Amino acid sequence: MNIYDLDTPALLVDVDILERNLRKMAAITAETGTRVRPHSKVYKCIEIVRKQLELGAMGVTCSKLSEAEVLADHGIDNLLVANEVVGQPKIQRLIDLVRRVDVMVGVDHPLAVDALNAAATDASVRLPVLVDMDIGMKRNGIAPEDAAELVRKVVASRGLEFRGLMGYEGHLVSMPPGEEKTNAVNEALDRFSFVIDELKTDGIDVPIVSAGGTGDYQIAARHPAVTELQVGTYAVMDTLYGSFTPEFELATTILCTVTSRPCRERLILDVGRKAVNTALSTSTLKDRPTVEMKYTYAEHGAMTVDEDAPDLIPGVKVELVVPYACGTIHMYEQMHIVRDGEVVDIWPVVGRGKVQ
Ligand SMILES: Cc1ncc(COP(=O)(O)O)c(C=O)c1O
Repeated sequence: MNIYDLDTPALLVDVDILERNLRKMAAITAETGTRVRPHSKVYKCIEIVRKQLELGAMGVTCSKLSEAEVLADHGIDNLLVANEVVGQPKIQRLIDLVRRVDVMVGVDHPLAVDALNAAATDASVRLPVLVDMDIGMKRNGIAPEDAAELVRKVVASRGLEFRGLMGYEGHLVSMPPGEEKTNAVNEALDRFSFVIDELKTDGIDVPIVSAGGTGDYQIAARHPAVTELQVGTYAVMDTLYGSFTPEFELATTILCTVTSRPCRERLILDVGRKAVNTALSTSTLKDRPTVEMKYTYAEHGAMTVDEDAPDLIPGVKVELVVPYACGTIHMYEQMHIVRDGEVVDIWPVVGRGKVQ
């Protein structure tokens, strides 16, 4: 089926571009010896995860426990939940999951360590954990100066198995490439090295340090402390990340229909905030940079048209470049997999709605 025979809005992923992006990341990590544990929250799709594993990824990162459960249901058995798992219902689900697959979880607070340890001890399981550090983003993560103490607490917890450290330098990933960014990212990642050195004096080994993102993978992959990268967006890409990692190509678009052309300067698409996330970046039509997303309403996307464009009339289908993949793909039930303009497969977004 040709893409233009699809009804809209429809999410399209160009499989050749996707595979080129995956191979590019695999080549860098092969060169540096760092491993990839791709962050599947961006695309929530088993078929993409399987391709990453075939190319050498050593497991999968996810944000939410429910994403990890879905991955486990599809046979993915090496997982990191890169988020706090707090509260009795979730802790019980985590205990159930650790009985089925190898799943690590991030911890950044002594109370979380106590709760997880108690539940794991009661259930006679050992729960693998990474201590999550704030390496400058000021989101979650324990302060680096308190991290070694939390690690010692984990090591002393019978129900827990200390596997290493994690953190995300998300405050730096959108810096333009150059010396300033390299220095800033290395400085953030050096915080792991200080904790590793501190733990060495206690005889505590740190097998895993998981960090990095699409915006700084080149630097993180070369940092001596980092053993694995939590990169996600590089696979599918979007206009936001395209501005700072142009070496990855845009694989993902939304096929839309022009529903109205109220005047020469404006056209309306059937894609609003319920079908595209423009919170962090804006967008244009594919191959038509003069047709720009101006404003999204709940159900409508208003585009400014900086050309005559007599072809853009109601009923015409066009491709919109995805501005922010992580915030957009989860709105779709499936991806239409495209090669040379033809739909060659359909891949479900299995993690859609998995926010718990
Ligand atoms: C914990 C964590 N790790 C890694 C990433 C990197 O993902 P990406 O490669 O999509 O920037 C993110 C992105 O938000 C994240 O929250």
